Amino acid sequence: MQRGLKGIVAAETAISFIDGNAGVLVYRGHPAAKVAVQHSFEEVAYLLWHGALPGAAELSALQAEMRQARQVPDFIYTLIETLPQGLDMMNQMAAAATALCPGQEKPTLAQAVQLTAAMPVIAAAVYRKEQGLPAIRPHAALGHAANYLYTLTGEVPQEAHARALEAYMILTMEHGLNASTFTARVIASTESDMASAVSGAIGALKGPLHGGAPTEVITMLEEIGTVERTEGWLRARLENGERLMGFGHRVYKTKDPRAVALRQVTEQVGQDDHWLRLAAHVEQTAIRLLEEYKPGRGLYTNVEFYAAAVMRSIGLPASMFTPTFAVSRTVGWTAHVLEQAGDNTIFRPEARYTGVIYS
Ligand code: ACO
Repeated sequence: MQRGLKGIVAAETAISFIDGNAGVLVYRGHPAAKVAVQHSFEEVAYLLWHGALPGAAELSALQAEMRQARQVPDFIYTLIETLPQGLDMMNQMAAAATALCPGQEKPTLAQAVQLTAAMPVIAAAVYRKEQGLPAIRPHAALGHAANYLYTLTGEVPQEAHARALEAYMILTMEHGLNASTFTARVIASTESDMASAVSGAIGALKGPLHGGAPTEVITMLEEIGTVERTEGWLRARLENGERLMGFGHRVYKTKDPRAVALRQVTEQVGQDDHWLRLAAHVEQTAIRLLEEYKPGRGLYTNVEFYAAAVMRSIGLPASMFTPTFAVSRTVGWTAHVLEQAGDNTIFRPEARYTGVIYS
């Protein structure tokens, strides 16, 4: 038995390929780090859903479809307003996604586009409700990533900020059979519907070992505070047997290519020198100490470490880190649901019984 199904092939996919030892991530044949720099969110979403980058006409059709789907019905805003105070934001997003796209029919590409376009609008409305602020309707002239920032703040974002966020969102769109994508495929395999698969995936992503790390990375950076305090703080955690958030990955045993690309984007945006300097120093020190305390485990910076740095530099609140991850990953989840539904066998692994048997 392999705990956590580590190393077990549980599905075939043509959507993405990861070589964790070489630090390679490929979306439908294209290096993710390259498409993140050269293409828009909409283009890369099209790539993951269709298998090829769009031509001009296809892109403009997708942009129009997404613009339309961003105009979510009023009842979604009302639903979010009436959900109980204290309910986790991710659970609120799951509820809204399920309400937006109900039905038991076989998952469709139109639903994938609808959920992807609506998810940032939903996340922003949930965030603003938590802040006691009214929701902001999307801006007709802005693209996916810029609209997300606009519906969060009510201000048209700086180009550099929208671009940094877009790169992050592209780099976290898809990542093979991670826990939330696996959850989505398992749900799809029962011939359940698209929104159920996506809301289940949101529940899986909510856990701190999967999508919850950036918030904890920021807490870690804030607690460390200065370059001088870095080594002592990290050493104390490791001496205590604790894990350093933003380091280690189930798949990558070398540098996570998404972390490398995001570090470049962070340097380009370069808003907050203190945080960027501190993050770079913490990264270097942590990798050295992880090799000292956990030799041979191949523990390096993961995407969440630099995601935290990017989001801090564009001023996204820490509470929005995991919801933003869900906003991006909706593309990957929906692509996998479509692939699963297209050639389906229900998932039904076995468990080894370790209890007693009474006669
Ligand atoms: N800090 C300290 N030690 C670590 C860390 C870490 N961040 N990550 C792994 N280790 C150690 C473990 O304690 C273990 O040590 P042992 O051999 O002495 O028992 C060894 O490395 C292997 O650990 P596993 O949990 O088996 O490694 P796995 O590859 O399954 O873990 C995981 C991956 C869960 C991401 C882990 O590295 C971790 O907990 N990291 C911190 C949380 C985090 O950053 N999560 C975000 C992941 S990225 C994402 O979800 C998109």
